[in-house]
Amino acid sequence: MNLHGNWAMDRSNRFIEGPLTASFHEAVPVLEFLDWRIDHIALGEARTTLPINVESTNQYITHQAALMLLSADYTGGIALSTLFQSAPIIGFHPMETDYGVYMWGAKASIKWLYPSSGDLICTSTVPAENWERIYRRFRDGKRVIETLTIDMHNGDLHVAQAEFTYWAQNSHSLRSNAFDTKRVHPIFDHRYKTSAKLIAGLRALEQEKPEALRAFDDNISPRAAGTHGVTLARRFCRVIPQLAPMVATRTASIDRLIDGLAEPYNILSVGVGLDTRPWRLDSPQHTWFELDLPLMLNYRAEVLPEADHSSMQIVREPIDLRADRLDERLLSIDAYDQEKPLLIIWEGGSMYFDDLLSKQIFRSISNLMSDARALLWFDFVSEAGVKGETGNTAATNFIRCMRKMGEPFISGYDDIDGFLAQFGLVVTALEGPGNYTTHKDPIFQHYSFCTAAAHSPPAGHGRCGAAP
Ligand SMILES: C[S@@+](CC[C@H](N)C(=O)[O-])C[C@H]1O[C@@H](n2cnc3c(N)ncnc32)[C@H](O)[C@@H]1O
Repeated sequence: MNLHGNWAMDRSNRFIEGPLTASFHEAVPVLEFLDWRIDHIALGEARTTLPINVESTNQYITHQAALMLLSADYTGGIALSTLFQSAPIIGFHPMETDYGVYMWGAKASIKWLYPSSGDLICTSTVPAENWERIYRRFRDGKRVIETLTIDMHNGDLHVAQAEFTYWAQNSHSLRSNAFDTKRVHPIFDHRYKTSAKLIAGLRALEQEKPEALRAFDDNISPRAAGTHGVTLARRFCRVIPQLAPMVATRTASIDRLIDGLAEPYNILSVGVGLDTRPWRLDSPQHTWFELDLPLMLNYRAEVLPEADHSSMQIVREPIDLRADRLDERLLSIDAYDQEKPLLIIWEGGSMYFDDLLSKQIFRSISNLMSDARALLWFDFVSEAGVKGETGNTAATNFIRCMRKMGEPFISGYDDIDGFLAQFGLVVTALEGPGNYTTHKDPIFQHYSFCTAAAHSPPAGHGRCGAAP
């Protein structure tokens, strides 16, 4: 395979011919600023150009040394990525499933041989004898550690040479140690924390609005998100502006449900992340059960007010939803008082587990909901939202961006009543972002908030609301 011309990355999960689209530059905006481009990609090969221009040069009007290294980094990374067959590189290629490639630089060195005063052509080739070994290791879920040479030329003049060592691994194998904090990979740990910090960051940004326009007041989320979470949220808001109102309205929907509870509840938050609800609602009458992976609960303990010494009754329990049963885990907790009614919140979760796992989780949930007062709140996306076939450009773009950010929706429901009926649950309220904001966006038609109860809804919990 020998491909020529300009290449970009697109939905095909691979680089495609054509002008360099926004997709690569969305991920690495500085490259757009520099006019950096990919010229050629083939199996095990890449060639790119860092143009000589005002932005890329230093006081001698030669290329900035560090920008040459940046250019080399992406050139070698692209050459290596061609060997992972059709698996998308997380952060660059849109992902349609949760299977992809984590790829990071592990080590780099560069020799500057001569000042670069013309377009910098970077080339990198993975020796053909290494291709099969690299692919097999990747496919088998092993770490790929590969050092590549990247040559840099101005025309025929060899101006620099870099050696980059890359680390790559497939996402499924990386999450296999998710529950074990001693063995969990730093990239996995970082990624999960990043995802929770992003949500906390979006809640923190809500606080920048004038009080009258806020969906909720929350002075703890900025601390939970930290500077990293707030920066992430600002960056995401540029690329996916719909995400902030989606998180703000879902947060308000649950807060309103809890505010309306007439008696003390056990409130179980499945995949609690960095949510600050106990403090935001300041409702010590409820007992809060916060379940998540141990890495997240540890981080939660670091950045949120202490659970043990707070006026709230907070119980944290580690779980891996892929391996453990939610009902068994909750019932094993001494502090869980089965006399009290239960509200289960699964916020920002149902869309990220495949069909089989989702069904197992809903089955566990329904086992906990025999009490007539028990309630479930969860958010979900439509099937068209999962497939990216909404028929609307703005909505399709949203879905594409989520896929590119490595957060693809993989489960969605059109007939939510029918889906829940198989678990003995009935929808008592169905809403969406449109119920909480005047802001309208086509993607809101594909994102809903559902409250459900066991088959005979308790008095006062007849179905209400409508997805706008
Ligand atoms: C998108 S975040 C949502 C966090 C929180 N519900 C919120 O709205 O702020 C998803 C959460 O699910 C958790 N999660 C993902 N996979 C999990 C698993 N296998 N077991 C338990 N929790 C998991 C993550 O750690 C993360 O905290």
